[in-house]
Amino acid sequence: MHAADLADATVYLNGRFVPLAEACVPVLDRGFLFGDGVYEVIPVYAGRPLRLDEHLVRLARSLDATAIPDPHSVAGWAALLDEVIERNGSGDMALYLQVTRGVAAKRDHAIAPGLQPTVFAMPMPLAPRPAEVASHGIAAVTLPDTRWDLCHIKAITLLPNVLLKHEAAARGAAEALLVRDGQVLEGTASNVFAVLDGALLTPPLAPAMLPGVTRALVLELAAANGIACREGPLPQARLGDCSELWISSSTREVSPVTTLDGKPVGDGRPGPLWRRVDALYQAFKDALRRGA
Ligand code: PDD
Repeated sequence: MHAADLADATVYLNGRFVPLAEACVPVLDRGFLFGDGVYEVIPVYAGRPLRLDEHLVRLARSLDATAIPDPHSVAGWAALLDEVIERNGSGDMALYLQVTRGVAAKRDHAIAPGLQPTVFAMPMPLAPRPAEVASHGIAAVTLPDTRWDLCHIKAITLLPNVLLKHEAAARGAAEALLVRDGQVLEGTASNVFAVLDGALLTPPLAPAMLPGVTRALVLELAAANGIACREGPLPQARLGDCSELWISSSTREVSPVTTLDGKPVGDGRPGPLWRRVDALYQAFKDALRRGA
């Protein structure tokens, strides 16, 4: 699907497939009033979702952690998403899936019993990575992590992330690496990898960060191909010593960060280990496209 196609997209809302423009949610929806909901973003190549099971497991955990009843079984979610993919041309896209606690009778912080979750799914254009990213990398800045303590939940409550990303953009950067207690945790919408002292490193999972599906896939691809990767702390104080820095996410794949806080990372170009891991990631995508 192309960027221009979004307006023509068919989306899923509470049991119905409708044109995007017709998908409306009541203003008393707790997602609208409180950001009371969770979401997933799942990349799809040639109509095939990448790591669907892992995304659905994370969705189930987010729902469980927020005490929102899971409205579907895993098979039910898979069938629903398959239909969204099919109705939108079965090409490359990113699926956006959101579940809110539902529509209450009044605005009240307290959760009324028996609410029916609102379920929404839409396709989003998944643009191929710009050639510039692979040839030159991206710029990032470090910013203090102003988010809450439960970032392992993929909550729709993203105001801190939005403001941090906005601050990054104001500083000419494509991502902000978030620092808490002197440690780099993740980006505003990505996980982080570093090559430090010649070894690949990624911060260990913790409640203060999202367990990225792409992060897990990178760890798996590295291990399967003899590339050692340690899960360990990445102190902000050591960022200047990193020869490579990467971010990973479902929509940005594995992207090299070549400028941090205005200074070059390593020699300021995408590094050799990134090239190896990116090739493995691209091969994984290609196999998915072929249905292998
Ligand atoms: N965000 N950390 C945060 C805070 C994120 O929002 C994301 C993804 C990731 C990477 O997770 P994954 O590899 O599973 O995509 C890490 C999505 C893409 C988004 O909000 O659009």
